[in-house]
Amino acid sequence: MGLLPGEALWTLAVAVAIFLLLVDLMHRRVRWAARYPPGPMPLPGVGNMLQLDLQDMLLSINQLRRRFGDVFSLQLAWKPVVVVNGLEAVREALVGRGEDTSDRPPTPIYEHLGFGPLSEGVILARYGHAWREQRRFSVSTLRNFGLGKKSLEQWVTEEATCLCAAFADQDGRPFSPRDLLNKAVSNVITSLVFGRRFEYTDPLFLKLLAILEEGLKEESATLRQVVDAFPVLLRIPGLPGKLFAGQKAFMDIVDELITEHRMTRDPTQPPRDLTDTFLDKVKANENTKSSFSDENLRIVVADLFIAGMVTTSTTLTWALLLMILYPEVQCRVQEEINAVIGQVRPPEMGDQARMPFTMAVVHEVQRFGDIIPLGLPHMTSRDTEVQGFLIPKGTTIITNLSSVLKDETVWKEPLRFRPEHFLDAQGGFVKPEAFMPFSAGRRSCLGEPLARMELFLFFTCLLQRFSFSVPAGQPRPSSHGAYSFLVTPAPYELCAVPH
Ligand code: HEM
Repeated sequence: MGLLPGEALWTLAVAVAIFLLLVDLMHRRVRWAARYPPGPMPLPGVGNMLQLDLQDMLLSINQLRRRFGDVFSLQLAWKPVVVVNGLEAVREALVGRGEDTSDRPPTPIYEHLGFGPLSEGVILARYGHAWREQRRFSVSTLRNFGLGKKSLEQWVTEEATCLCAAFADQDGRPFSPRDLLNKAVSNVITSLVFGRRFEYTDPLFLKLLAILEEGLKEESATLRQVVDAFPVLLRIPGLPGKLFAGQKAFMDIVDELITEHRMTRDPTQPPRDLTDTFLDKVKANENTKSSFSDENLRIVVADLFIAGMVTTSTTLTWALLLMILYPEVQCRVQEEINAVIGQVRPPEMGDQARMPFTMAVVHEVQRFGDIIPLGLPHMTSRDTEVQGFLIPKGTTIITNLSSVLKDETVWKEPLRFRPEHFLDAQGGFVKPEAFMPFSAGRRSCLGEPLARMELFLFFTCLLQRFSFSVPAGQPRPSSHGAYSFLVTPAPYELCAVPH
């Protein structure tokens, strides 16, 4: 006698449940290995997803650290994850074991944007030849940019002048500095990548920035995290397009800019910028298996925009906020600017050596702002060991950079804004090893020299020209950041009065 449809359904459901439990057991088997890091017990199918606040992973991770110690494990759906906290463990994972921990987890969610085995860009590239080639290319282009032409420092200094002019246009009235900082920093990236800057009112520029912002919001959406844990959901027709509409629109503008650039290239002239240099390499490598391809150019360009824009402008937004919250620090920076640079010439990178207090302030802004608290995910490319715990190949590693920047064993008052953290007893500038906002090891931020240049030059140019204050009648803004993709200050306004 055949099974009744209801019974058939039951049998199927039980079979599927048993199958899923077996798969689940297979994935959690790793937890039973000797010396695997401890962690909360995962639930079948979802792992620890329901025990974490996906909107505030930093909070969840700091709570779990108190329970399980500096190296603990999580399971996100079926993905094994190890979280590393504190200076000692993070240094060991990223530097001591750098050869084992420098891979990135696969990212199928970006495939619909053109990301693939031959177009991995830099940020999310797997640890291997293509990543090495592109990292080296970006580092050397950043370093050699402008040889014989305008140097990157000149671009930044000229942009700082435009930024100051835009601040002056506010006539001392209250305004939010965020958009203007975004524009200035974006122009530095467009100078590097496309050899041009945009007027702050250019409609294409405004569209680019609005879309970039939308794309970043998509990154921090809860559904985005869920899809990351269950990539099979991407097969739902129309879902990727809906979830990542902003990112797709951003890639369309990048394509447009690259096409325009290609059309204006004069092959008899030396390359104007990173795009030209890349295109020359595409030509030179036409018949070889190389990561210099048209498909990869758009991903590399998008990477540099995304990694280089919001990070630096968010840090500058923190810097101005902290200056209006700590006017005595602002005054000391201005005194140093007056003594070393004066009011006539613009600041130069060479001034840094004689400006220990300003250097300390810029570093303390980065430490306190702590804008990428959980770094970017790494993955082990082979079995390894951190702090005596075994971490198998293929495990995602989350580095809690915040726990290093706020490590109580290193910093006197980790939760306070205190430039003295970077000054020795004689008032000289010192940089403790736990200053790690750019991460450490092989995958550390390749844009650090550019970021350092922008932070110093924009900050000192602005403080040379203006005094910043909380607008009269407005409450003192909060110094607590809001965590989504990055930690950003809550929106605030300031007054910029020329002096
Ligand atoms: C204040 C500004 C910045 C901060 C705090 C910052 C921080 C970081 C951090 C934490 C990482 C992850 C490192 C890791 O995986 O361990 C990173 C990676 C990266 N950053 Fe930055 N960054 C900044 C500015 C820039 C700029 C200006 C650029 C380029 C124009 C840039 C390009 C990159 C790239 C390409 C990567 C990926 C490196 C790789 O995977 O090999 N960043 N950055």
